[in-house]
Amino acid sequence: MDYSRFLVPQKEANEPYITRILAMRAFQLPNLISLAGGLPNKDVVPIVGCSFTCADGTTLTVDKDEMKKASTYQSTKGNPKTLSWIHKIHAKYHNPPILNDGNPNKRFSTVVTPGCMGAMHLLFRLTVETDDVVLLEEFSFGGTKKNMRLCGGELVGLKMDEQGIRTDDLKDALTRWQQRVSVASGRKLRKPRLLYTVPTGHNPTGVTTSFERKKEIYKIAQEHDLLIIEDDPYFYLQYSEDFVPSYQSLDTDGRVIRLDSMSKLAIMKLFDHWGMDGFHQHINYLRDFYQKLRDRTEQMMHELLTDLIEWKSPEAGLYIWAKLKNNQNSLIFADMEFCEKHDVFVVPGVDFSCDLNNATSYFRICFTYTNQQEEAIKRLRNLVVDINARQ
Ligand SMILES: Cc1ncc(COP(=O)(O)O)c(C=O)c1O
Repeated sequence: MDYSRFLVPQKEANEPYITRILAMRAFQLPNLISLAGGLPNKDVVPIVGCSFTCADGTTLTVDKDEMKKASTYQSTKGNPKTLSWIHKIHAKYHNPPILNDGNPNKRFSTVVTPGCMGAMHLLFRLTVETDDVVLLEEFSFGGTKKNMRLCGGELVGLKMDEQGIRTDDLKDALTRWQQRVSVASGRKLRKPRLLYTVPTGHNPTGVTTSFERKKEIYKIAQEHDLLIIEDDPYFYLQYSEDFVPSYQSLDTDGRVIRLDSMSKLAIMKLFDHWGMDGFHQHINYLRDFYQKLRDRTEQMMHELLTDLIEWKSPEAGLYIWAKLKNNQNSLIFADMEFCEKHDVFVVPGVDFSCDLNNATSYFRICFTYTNQQEEAIKRLRNLVVDINARQ
């Protein structure tokens, strides 16, 4: 499926993001020291473990290692363990036809967001813009409507019966869309590309769309090339043992985006425990910790790198902005194969430049993530020597 038709124009999305590519690759290489990703140090995470008491008395414990992993940056899509659980749950309850399809254009993928509303917030900004018609049940969840309107969408409510959205009304909306004009601006609207629906225990009507109706609606969506956003927070609250299968379980094309909801847990305990003074003490502790890392890094740089690079000592933050002395283009640091030979990454300056054609010799060192500063700088020296030898 070609998803570009569903996306609002996002020029900046075409911009390469070398920092992220290097950071993600570095996670996979246990021996590599990364000076690339802008990551804080795992050793200063203030919570080193926690336990949850379940209603049945069971205690669940998050140990030190898990806490360290969970507290720093990881994959943008979410904690890999959580994602793998979501994947398993989907396979069991929805068995999406595209799960094992193998076609890269229909890849099944999951992402964790702060609640279902968080997902909508992201999704509508990517798919809805001014003068777009969005189809949805004639009564719908207030959070959805507000979110769609914020993006400039014109909402067209579809009539429902006890089986769900009425297909005659859906077809009508899809064939007579040219007659519509924006209520707000009087402008002509675009042909609908999105159908948003709450198929189970619909909020507010309580209607659960039958499987037969879902099949009919899916077929219409195929004929008119619609993306179906299936907002299904009540799927697991079906009172019959035979769950009505989801739209996702019908989705041979990859045109269904399914939103699920899990309860959220906010931890304010730490601030309660610290108070303002404790908070300040923690800041001082962090400043001291990172300053020592900066000093160790720079001391080693002074010993090994002054003939090859120049830099100014940073007064704050996590980064040293350095420059290759021979003015070579630092884009070479994006060549992972080359840098992996020396087991060290830094980020080329162009990744931060507004001008993507900027042949800058600057590059960024993040000194906070690793505790192997000395070894990292030794490797960086070898890498820069190797770069110079290539000239
Ligand atoms: C249809 C629907 N979608 C989404 C939400 C919000 O879900 P979350 O709490 O995961 O953001 C609700 C909550 O009432 C809802 O009824």
